[in-house]
Amino acid sequence: MDIRLLQPSDIPHVQHANITNLPENYFMKYYLYHALSWPQLSYVAVDVSRPKKSPYDYPRIVGYVLAKMEEDPPDGVQHGHITSLSVMRTHRRLGIAEKLMRQSRMFPFQTYNLSESKERHSGKENRLMDIERAMVETFGAQYVSLHVRVSNNAALRLYRDTLGFKNEKVEAKYYADGEDAYSMKLDLGFIR
Ligand code: ACO
Repeated sequence: MDIRLLQPSDIPHVQHANITNLPENYFMKYYLYHALSWPQLSYVAVDVSRPKKSPYDYPRIVGYVLAKMEEDPPDGVQHGHITSLSVMRTHRRLGIAEKLMRQSRMFPFQTYNLSESKERHSGKENRLMDIERAMVETFGAQYVSLHVRVSNNAALRLYRDTLGFKNEKVEAKYYADGEDAYSMKLDLGFIR
């Protein structure tokens, strides 16, 4: 499994994963806007175990995180935002979502071998997340935010227990089907 930065050519496959895994879907141009505006912030997980049949064979994207900077922050504070994260059902509970969110600074522009990740992330320094570090160092982010359905236990546990996000508030009827969202935040002061 390789975890690497999103490239524009990945976008149709990321869109496919998003449509498969989540009811919140986006136009192609919105993915492209992320990739072109904040190329340091979005990552994909690629299953490299499947042999390439030809040089034109497409990568098998099994997970992605799409992230951006909030362009007009209502509180006036620069911050990042996780737009969307998902992992294909066939590849869940393997630590892929955590790895997508928690990138080692040592390998920012290289592919990343999942089997070696536990060791690399055992040191405190390496526990910092590349996405968040890029938000702070490149864009001056003070925190990172996201929304998650109140019923989404898997994602809640990932964000709260594994990654340290805090519940800020409940946003009533945030989703199109009327479900409430937790608005969650991770303070990035620890990186500065
Ligand atoms: N039940 C309980 N806890 C879970 C579950 C689950 N099914 N899945 C993950 N977790 C928590 C656990 O704490 C886990 O740590 P552990 O394995 O040591 O117990 C931790 O998250 C990390 O798990 P990963 O293996 O990295 O998570 P995975 O790769 O399976 O992806 C995800 C988790 C992204 C939530 C996946 O289930 C998914 O794609 N769900 C559908 C899409 C979705 O809900 N996306 C999030 C929407 S919110 C947003 O996009 C901002």
